Amino acid sequence: MARVLVTSGPTRQYLDPVRFLTNGSTGRMGQALCQALQDGGHQVVVVSGPVEVAYPDGVEVVAVVTTEEMLSACQGLLPACDGVVGVAAPCDYRVEHVAERKIAKTGQPLLLRLVETPDILATLGEHKGDRWMVGFALETDDRRFRALAKLERKKCDLMILNSPQAISSVDTRVEILDPAGDVVAAIAGDKRSVAARIVAEIEHRLVRRG
Ligand code: C5P
Repeated sequence: MARVLVTSGPTRQYLDPVRFLTNGSTGRMGQALCQALQDGGHQVVVVSGPVEVAYPDGVEVVAVVTTEEMLSACQGLLPACDGVVGVAAPCDYRVEHVAERKIAKTGQPLLLRLVETPDILATLGEHKGDRWMVGFALETDDRRFRALAKLERKKCDLMILNSPQAISSVDTRVEILDPAGDVVAAIAGDKRSVAARIVAEIEHRLVRRG
């Protein structure tokens, strides 16, 4: 049995009190992974951005909005966890200055200066110790090469490669890459069955028995 930290869903970066940057992540793959981990007898805490899906009963849910909040919640939870599954799609950019009041239209183009948000997995990877980490990479070009580069940069033990079709859909198609760059499994199906197969691979390769 492991205690697993899961990140799930999108984050939001506000421009002003009412508008925000985000993406189409629904949290469905995170939900499916929480379920599969729980079915395997693991204890799960999920740090989730705003989603419509409900996480399984018995899973501890920490609700966050921004990428910075997701990182800080994860940093607080990491010491008590054995492993991390980073399936969230955190916003990679935020506006440099959030407007205190709603930005009014002027009839002119609006220029936004965006700066990068922290990378959650890469930051956690710096302090992972003997914990394992599994990341997801959504790639359109040079897919395996880029996914493997992310595995290395973020100090992950496995990287799940998927494609843009996975966003908002019921079904998905993934490849599981190991640190040697080998495709240890290629799986297609609904997110529940794909999640079960990913968890089986995590248990086989990463979870310590005992
Ligand atoms: O966005 P990217 O393709 O780099 O995401 C790859 C992995 O890194 C995913 O597992 C995602 O959850 C994670 N990630 C993160 N923090 C970010 C961006 C991505 O942890 N700011």
